[in-house]
Amino acid sequence: MELHILLLFVTLLVLITRFILNRHGSKNQPPGPTGLPIIGNLHQLGPKPHCTLSSLAQTYGPIMSLRLGSVTVVVASSPGTAQEILQKNDQAFASRPIPESVAAQPNVGDTLAWAPGDSRWRNRRRVCTTQIFTAQRLDLLQHLRHRKVQEVVQHLRKQASNGTAVDIGEVAFATMLNLMSNTVFSEDLVDPAFESAGELKEVVWRIMEDAGKVNISDYFPFLKWLDLQGVKRHVRVSYVRLHDIFDRMILTRVEERESSRVAKGDFLDVLLDHCQQGDGSDFTVQTIKPLILDLFIAGSDTSGSTTEWAMAELLRNPKVMQRGREEVIKVIGTSNEVKESDIPKLGYIQAIVKETLRLHPPVPLLLPYVAGHDVEVSGYTIRKGNQVLVNAWSIGRNPHFWEDPLLFEPERFLRSNVDFKGRDFEYLPFGAGRRICPGFPLANRMITLMLAAFLHSFQWSLPQGVTPQTLDMTEQYGITLKKLSPLRAIPISG
Ligand code: HEM
Repeated sequence: MELHILLLFVTLLVLITRFILNRHGSKNQPPGPTGLPIIGNLHQLGPKPHCTLSSLAQTYGPIMSLRLGSVTVVVASSPGTAQEILQKNDQAFASRPIPESVAAQPNVGDTLAWAPGDSRWRNRRRVCTTQIFTAQRLDLLQHLRHRKVQEVVQHLRKQASNGTAVDIGEVAFATMLNLMSNTVFSEDLVDPAFESAGELKEVVWRIMEDAGKVNISDYFPFLKWLDLQGVKRHVRVSYVRLHDIFDRMILTRVEERESSRVAKGDFLDVLLDHCQQGDGSDFTVQTIKPLILDLFIAGSDTSGSTTEWAMAELLRNPKVMQRGREEVIKVIGTSNEVKESDIPKLGYIQAIVKETLRLHPPVPLLLPYVAGHDVEVSGYTIRKGNQVLVNAWSIGRNPHFWEDPLLFEPERFLRSNVDFKGRDFEYLPFGAGRRICPGFPLANRMITLMLAAFLHSFQWSLPQGVTPQTLDMTEQYGITLKKLSPLRAIPISG
């Protein structure tokens, strides 16, 4: 008991000393709301940090700082400040702080998203961008994705014949998982009847949700060993489950390759080739597992929820839905199947995807960055060790850069060249700079293909009692933003 009291006393002393030091050592720090002793501004974040930070930025400006426990967090909320962080000073912001919930996974340093921005990360990133996500590589595996899209269309036809409403998020997520797993492993993770979709979606969402939780351990690092909210314990189960699945798939492939069967040419083959080549990429059968897991986690839920948001917006905006359908039917015809090679001709569908990503960026605050040294941004100093967030959600809804920002109007993208490739800082759904999402070419193909197939094969209606005006669009915050109440819609063949 006495030891506990002593510990508590020392902890309080450390916190109060830090609080005093912070107040005196914070000259030229970006402005921000005054916090409470010890917890700082933690109590202000609320369940939707992206919205809270967006409102605070209206008072404190496009670069502001908050104190979350013992951590100073700087938030950029304008294209200019985002550019200074992601492009001009990208070297200073090459690494990310690792939330405790993410650190719960085995070998987190071998991931791509959370590895420190050193030469190992650079090598892994180079292999992924040049050998996995190039147009040529993606083209090689497009037939596998076409088959998956046809399967989901078949599944929806059955629901259409019964007039049953479909949980769009679940079907979209399961299909994205299968598109991803066919691109990586040339096999399905979810069965054709989508029965195992629920469990896997749960596992991936738990990881996303826990990563987005305000976790005391992240803001009071000296308390992290206590895991006070049990986040680390809770999320570890999901990581172990995914590691088990991937272990089995990798092992089977290694055995197949040893018995010299024909190579499949998928992502796994590319990675295993690198394991054998000893080309400085630092890949081994063990170190590629966290990378594969990273690609799945980063790619499936984000792409699935974008498709769900897109369908929700289309059902709320029947004229946009109609124009989208007319385009796919005109370009593809009524009998043919949608293919990735049709995408360049589907300008309006591409605009729908872009507009969805503007209003509903799945990673609203991008992934966090940490300053490697003191940096001057917009006349303020971001100190070494400060964490930095970019509020992409807020930037995409800012009336200074977007006309009628809250309207869902894909036409705006037909009139402009703004793109998500990291050059236009008013539109950052995939981030920008050296740590921009490497998977965006694949994400763009998968989402556009699935949406085009949904519109090509079906008309869509809302279940009885729900109208375009009453459809609930409330967001739920995890590290990704999802729709709080799952979208249910009825496919109608024809
Ligand atoms: C709609 C779909 C997607 C969205 C909106 C999205 C968005 C993002 C964002 C915002 C980041 C952080 C960028 C930054 O911090 O500046 C990111 C990182 C990342 N994404 Fe995506 N992503 C999507 C799909 C994918 C897919 C399909 C993959 C892979 C198959 C993928 C793999 C990654 C990886 C590995 C990183 C970490 C990169 C690094 O830190 O070097 N993402 N993504």
